[in-house]
Amino acid sequence: MAAIRIQPARADDIPRLAEWMVAFVRELRSLSADPYLAAAPPLPAAAWAVRFRNSVGVADRFLLVASVDGDPAGFVWANEVLPFIPDSSVGAVGRIEACWVVPAHRKRGVARALVSALETELARRGVRFVEANWLMDNPDAGHAWAALGFAPCRTLVRKALPGERTPHG
Ligand SMILES: CC(C)(COP(=O)(O)OP(=O)(O)OC[C@H]1O[C@@H](n2cnc3c(N)ncnc32)[C@H](O)[C@@H]1OP(=O)(O)O)[C@@H](O)C(=O)NCCC(=O)NCCS
Repeated sequence: MAAIRIQPARADDIPRLAEWMVAFVRELRSLSADPYLAAAPPLPAAAWAVRFRNSVGVADRFLLVASVDGDPAGFVWANEVLPFIPDSSVGAVGRIEACWVVPAHRKRGVARALVSALETELARRGVRFVEANWLMDNPDAGHAWAALGFAPCRTLVRKALPGERTPHG
């Protein structure tokens, strides 16, 4: 049986993680015409690398890497954030920003192992809830989160407006 190993990302994982993040966004774009994905040029790997570097070794940021029989296989990236009602008696919440598994390693328990390791780390820090979200154009992700024990708890609704501001506008 394949051995899945989960480890905190190290500095030398960053270039690979940045390439994976580019692949993740590319994959989402292939699934969805969501304007948040389509409107801007994709962030290059170098820009993701900066973001990931800021997550390595920081207590409330989580960047875990999976390998299968020594072969790099995927990652989960999460942060501790406030709950959506900031004065809630619930303190920090774990928010999963991205979870991506190399296509050749999918459906073998890699995401399950990554998320389980993340949950263990969050619980160790006293965090009681972990959240994830997915695009409705990506129902496979919804199935995976459900299988991992995540249940819908609120709904985001959105409406397009006529404004044209760009990220730098
Ligand atoms: C979603 C994703 C992370 C799942 O990774 P994975 O390693 O294949 O998932 P696992 O093998 O650990 O499966 C975990 C559970 O989800 C289920 N699952 C995984 N992919 C599924 C799919 N495409 N359809 C239905 N169920 C799925 C598995 O059956 C498993 O449940 P089980 O143990 O009860 O059978 C992977 O498909 C991926 O990287 N997709 C593209 C990125 C993405 O959409 N990420 C999620 C949004 S952040």
